[in-house]
Amino acid sequence: MKEFLNVAVDIAREAGAILREGFERPKTITYKGEVDLVTESDRRSEELVVSRLKKLFPDHGIVAEEGSGAAARTKYCWHVDPLDGTTNFAHGYPCFAVSIGLVEDGKPIVGVVFNPVADELFTAVRGEGAFLNKKRVRVSPVEKLANSLVATGFPTHLRKKSSNMEYYWQFTLRTHGVRRDGSASLDLCSVACGRFDAYWEFGLSSWDTAAGVLLVEEAGGTVSDLTGQPYRLGGPSLISSNGRIHAELQEVAASIAARVAKDG
Ligand code: IPD
Ligand code: CA
Ligand code: CA
Repeated sequence: MKEFLNVAVDIAREAGAILREGFERPKTITYKGEVDLVTESDRRSEELVVSRLKKLFPDHGIVAEEGSGAAARTKYCWHVDPLDGTTNFAHGYPCFAVSIGLVEDGKPIVGVVFNPVADELFTAVRGEGAFLNKKRVRVSPVEKLANSLVATGFPTHLRKKSSNMEYYWQFTLRTHGVRRDGSASLDLCSVACGRFDAYWEFGLSSWDTAAGVLLVEEAGGTVSDLTGQPYRLGGPSLISSNGRIHAELQEVAASIAARVAKDG
């Protein structure tokens, strides 16, 4: 497994350098939909990651956000977000990352998330703990939702009303605050290293979460779906926390879900 980790780290650092360089220059922005941005750096970063992985592991599957992967029914599959936080990147807000997760039979086993501006490298291998710049990290010790700082996100491709606003509001009333930082992989890493006590979101893709979910679990946290069932990559909802506030988080989420379902 160490071999896979080392390769993913090298590639994430290389891709990070591409993003870092692109961040300093004027950006060419195009749109995948009404508000879903994509930049030249998304494509250049993906090209690098995917070509390296294909060369080194020709029999592994690759799922990459911008579509250049080669998904296949293989034992091992890499899930790649070449630039997680594109909207931040495009606006010059320095909160974005490269996220690379290796999944074995549906379970993340290696996770690397690299923020090239902060020079923060988050790594995890299943069963071996979670690390930030090679230092072991653990989830926060917070015991109550009322004392927590949490985070969420909203899909970038939708400008429609989102039921997550209701969750956003209700959790704002019950916590020290809800952050919306715009990079799902970094949000998960922030739970892993105790900056956030929890993070939830709806409608994430496997490339957003494959690495970060492993980071949270290896840091001693809990990841599930909204109803407390095991989180499935690409599933409709994700709740992650330090574990200690998970039941409370889920209980509140269930009551909001019931209200949202009733009121429409
Ligand atoms: C997005 C970011 C954002 C999250 C969205 C994702 P992208 O990824 O992670 O925080 O709220 O759901 O799609 O488009 O910047 O790679
Ligand atoms: Ca993403
Ligand atoms: Ca992306």
